[in-house]
Amino acid sequence: MIDRRTLLSASTSGVVLGALPGLGGAMARAAEAPPARQGVAMSDGAPLSPDMPVPFGRLLDPLPPADPSLRRLDDGWRFLEGDIAVAPPRGNDDTYAVTKTGNAPGAAGQDFDDGDWASVRLPHDWAIQHPIEADQNNAWGYRRRGVGWYRRTLRLEEAWRGRYLELQLGGMATNATVWFNGIPVAHSFSGYVQQNIDITPFARYGEEANVIAIRVDAQAMEGWWYEGAGLYRECALAVRPALHIATDGIHADPRPAAPGQTGGTWTVPVRVTLNNAGGGAEASEPVGPATIDVRLIAPDGRELARGQASASPAALATVEAGCDLAVTDPALWSTQAPLLHTLEVDLLRNGQVIDRRRLRLGFRTIRFDANKGFFLNGKPLKIKGVCIHQDHAGVGVALPDALVEWRVRRLQDIGCNAIRSSHHAPSLALLDACDRLGMLVMDENRHFNPSADYAAHLRWMVRRDRNRPSVIMWSVLNEEPMQGSAQGYEMVRRLAAVVKELDDSRPVTAAMNDGFFTPLNGADAVDLVGFNYRAEWYDRYHAAHPDRPIISTEDTSAVMTRGEWRNDEQRNVLGSYDTNAPEWGLTHTESWRRIGSRPFMGATFVWTGFDYHGEPTPLPWPAASSSFGILDLCGFAKMAYHIRRAQWLDGQPVIAIGPHWNWPGREGQAIQVMVPTNAAEAELFLNGASLGRKTVDPFAAPSWQVPYAPGRLEAVGYAQGREVARARVETTGAPVRLRLTADRAMMAGTGRDVQPVSVDLLDSAGRHVPTATDRVTFTLTGGGEIIGVGNGDANDHDSEQASSRRLYAGLAQVLVRAPAGQGRLTLTAQVAGLPVARVTIGFAPQANDMPALAATPGAQPVSEWRRTAFAATLPDGAQALARSDWRALSYVRAGRLEEAPATPGYTLLQTRLTPRRDLALRGGRVAFASVAGKAQLWVDGTLVARKADAAPGPLAAALPPGEQEHVISLVLEAQAGEAVGLARSVWAWPA
Ligand code: GAL
Repeated sequence: MIDRRTLLSASTSGVVLGALPGLGGAMARAAEAPPARQGVAMSDGAPLSPDMPVPFGRLLDPLPPADPSLRRLDDGWRFLEGDIAVAPPRGNDDTYAVTKTGNAPGAAGQDFDDGDWASVRLPHDWAIQHPIEADQNNAWGYRRRGVGWYRRTLRLEEAWRGRYLELQLGGMATNATVWFNGIPVAHSFSGYVQQNIDITPFARYGEEANVIAIRVDAQAMEGWWYEGAGLYRECALAVRPALHIATDGIHADPRPAAPGQTGGTWTVPVRVTLNNAGGGAEASEPVGPATIDVRLIAPDGRELARGQASASPAALATVEAGCDLAVTDPALWSTQAPLLHTLEVDLLRNGQVIDRRRLRLGFRTIRFDANKGFFLNGKPLKIKGVCIHQDHAGVGVALPDALVEWRVRRLQDIGCNAIRSSHHAPSLALLDACDRLGMLVMDENRHFNPSADYAAHLRWMVRRDRNRPSVIMWSVLNEEPMQGSAQGYEMVRRLAAVVKELDDSRPVTAAMNDGFFTPLNGADAVDLVGFNYRAEWYDRYHAAHPDRPIISTEDTSAVMTRGEWRNDEQRNVLGSYDTNAPEWGLTHTESWRRIGSRPFMGATFVWTGFDYHGEPTPLPWPAASSSFGILDLCGFAKMAYHIRRAQWLDGQPVIAIGPHWNWPGREGQAIQVMVPTNAAEAELFLNGASLGRKTVDPFAAPSWQVPYAPGRLEAVGYAQGREVARARVETTGAPVRLRLTADRAMMAGTGRDVQPVSVDLLDSAGRHVPTATDRVTFTLTGGGEIIGVGNGDANDHDSEQASSRRLYAGLAQVLVRAPAGQGRLTLTAQVAGLPVARVTIGFAPQANDMPALAATPGAQPVSEWRRTAFAATLPDGAQALARSDWRALSYVRAGRLEEAPATPGYTLLQTRLTPRRDLALRGGRVAFASVAGKAQLWVDGTLVARKADAAPGPLAAALPPGEQEHVISLVLEAQAGEAVGLARSVWAWPA
């Protein structure tokens, strides 16, 4: 196999980097030789281990919805893993039929029985449910992906007739085809791009069913990390007036009076794209002029500015309406105080608000200086960022919003102020959390490709994200083989132009790892030169291009296993003394030394904030997840967390000790003790005796070799000779008690709120036992669901969707979802031989929750109607027309009326229905959305309903349970010249 870095280098400078070392390679050799078996003992009297997240206690308050036209589509999905083979048509007639719009065959079609498929709710990642298998791709965490199908029945209210309906599918991993009512409506070839699909022309209302069918091909790959499989981001239906504000249709990015000037009068140019879907078959709203009314609201609720504009979009056209708002000395948005303004955009027609959006805006200036780095609001700010992928223990890539917010807070705890969404567009939940919590974002697109289909992805991303204060730069590539060539230059130039056309306020960067010094390369076409690794070239490039701002777009890639203290091939783990980094990377210590000490380097983006599934480099099987994280797969702290806190947190003292102090059998042997601290000096004490005071290198944690004796290790940090920080770890006794630590005592009763609960064991003195590996079993009562478990162990192959988990290095995590409504749930945890632990959590409805579109059972189309010729006498509705006559009868198609008879008469319509599983089991009803003419409805030879009015109207009757075929007949009476028939479609709805 070709090494990917060789591949990259070969096309550019010709420099060939070394191959990835295994554990026995350079990384292992670089490691210091710690004791044979170590663990961590930390108890400073505080109840939690410093590796555990401190409960945040609350979620951000829910905001009024950004788009009130949206209705959630989380529930009511049917799912089948695998493909559905459809026999290819043979004859010309069959081929003719299946190629017609609306006639998609098999699971894509409307008439398909999905009754025995699994019921799932979104977000959903089917790959995380799979076992870890040695013959699968290690990049994907050795999990099968494959193909899967989703189907959902949709009922649309009669009142929505004439409105604009848009299906929004947030993220489908990876290739997908979407059918609506048997019509293909979208082909998606990126799992990171939202599909917004206008379904208006195909929609059916009231008693009629609509069917969404999606085939997802997750065998397709876009990246070399765990990408998950399925509908893993939120899906919604937008129900808007025919004339409405288009999706991502508002551009409102505040501009200062002069570049870099934070005071004075800012302008908010507001441009609104209006779309008019009206004037058609369902023309409930005439085409005509409309007004936008725009209000800028300060963080404290005051209205600061207001503007109006009018526009008159023609039918089936879009038009832009705009106005400029002015505001003097607005409250600024920053990482320290992320003050958000609200831009409320109303669309009015005849004085009535018909559509509304709310944008959260931030007033801030950004600037990258070639010599001094980054400036936020005119003040220098070193960007201390991390790269992240989007998965988490237990749930794969199907992250509930609350967990995304939790992860952002967890990163802020390290002093991290920026996230690189690597290597694809982030979820909306991530951007919302970053805007609200004050986290900067490098927004990156997936495919380095300016051809039209791919450029459309970048265009979508920029349109969606260009109002966000958190987003401060666009990245158009990550480590691409063509980056260092003239061709690469041309590709970057074109992608940058796509960005600039939509947003001229943020720099474009490219995350290159080679080719910087070729005559023409990608870096020549960007505003901000991005270095992935190659720290040895920072100075050279800066000297060669003193006028170009530079950041590190990716660095470090140091690896360690939480709670492990030596590289151990047998156990397939990596030690935590910050000694392991691949050839292309650096340790946390060395990486920050290079970047932190160079004022011209505007940013670091550490690979990575969290461990992620897949890419277990450099660990071989059975490791199935990465070890690059500062935090592990659950968000528990590794030693890197303490090292980075000491490096990054300004203005608050940091001190920590590693390893733990439980080393029975190692008495008298030297153990390396590391003390990450931001104090000027540090001193270590063992059982009260000083082991010496050291001056602290601001980039590196001091270490001591300490002959092991059980007891207490204490570290003290000093500034100007005075104690400023203290940490301690103690040798613990055997565990006697299990503990559950919830993040919050209250959860939102929305059915979607999720929180992580930490699990650990304590000794008789209440100290966290850092070496425990016991299996813990969980139960949940009072509603809700355990949606995943984890422990951060890359080698643990137990299912992450289970109700038990082993502790790893003393910790495990349970993800709990609260049900909708109000109440209390209790999570119980049990370890053999110890008392049961419990935590009770309340949940209550939340304001501003997005309404859901109710789940409906899968409806069965009642089609294949035939009818007799018009006759003067009333036919017998009880008769079953002979199958042999079927061809002699006329076809009836629902949705159009029959030709009117010349004289009054009757016709008998009939079909046969073999009930599907749900209908056979529970019974249900047959529903005619609209019948024209007076009618009698007969089911299985019995008159069950009548319609006395000739005008088109609904008709319905019960269907009894049972597997037998139903004969459904409709006797229609027509006056001379009166068209009768099935004005709309007919469905059987299971009870
Ligand atoms: C980088 C790459 C990342 C990840 C990392 C591991 O080169 O951009 O996606 O693979 O290496 O060190």
